[in-house]
Amino acid sequence: MDLFDAVAERRSVRGFRSSPVSRQTMESLFTRAQRAPSWCNVQPWRVVVTSGEVTERLRTRLLRAFSEESPSPEIAMPPGYPEPYGTHRRECGRVLYEAMGIERKDATGKVRAWRRNFELFDAPHAVIVSFDDRFGIYGALDVGCWLQTVLLGAVALGLACCPQAALASYPSAVREVLPIAEGTKIAFGISIGVEDPDVPANRARTSRAPLEDNVKLLGFET
Ligand SMILES: Cc1cc2nc3c(=O)[nH]c(=O)nc-3n(C[C@H](O)[C@H](O)[C@H](O)COP(=O)(O)O)c2cc1C
Repeated sequence: MDLFDAVAERRSVRGFRSSPVSRQTMESLFTRAQRAPSWCNVQPWRVVVTSGEVTERLRTRLLRAFSEESPSPEIAMPPGYPEPYGTHRRECGRVLYEAMGIERKDATGKVRAWRRNFELFDAPHAVIVSFDDRFGIYGALDVGCWLQTVLLGAVALGLACCPQAALASYPSAVREVLPIAEGTKIAFGISIGVEDPDVPANRARTSRAPLEDNVKLLGFET
């Protein structure tokens, strides 16, 4: 598959079939993602991939945390979204809620949509990603490079993903179920599996700002 076709095709999928992905395919994906670059090649991502009964235990525990506990992420979430970021954030929420048939003022519907994160969007597999945050922003950049490698690799293998900061909201619940690497903080998770195209949320399509909003090309001949 052409790399830029994978870039164009990749999107966050929020509804999965129950059919599991084989261990062999998962190993292939994550082995290839080990090629992701990192500062001084420190490779700071620490990852747990779940299947079967382990996924079910994680899902059950996360749902309990969602209904009974207060979020307490180990890595601070953004304190706010000033412009122009607020507009992008609202737009991404709007396309998702529209696809799900949730009205703008339907607060209950929005909670239901957020809860889907902790249902892992019905995916048969969850990936929990942590890293040693003593590397600060550069460790986060490394993990980001790894994340995009996984997301594009998944497309190449016919799989779908949703990266989820939501899965970092209840770290003690996750730690009860999974052996998170010592000295690391949980940064995010990924639901992964085969897309269910009949799930309404999967009709959502996000847009992107024009190039000039993000990139300046200087000194080129016109
Ligand atoms: C680090 C990171 C965290 C994210 N967290 C969530 C999340 O918790 N829940 C969710 O539904 N989507 C989450 N997303 C998906 C974004 O909303 C999505 O990437 C963005 O709206 C662009 O849409 P696209 O991925 O379909 O192109 C996350 C994406 C990234 C990269």
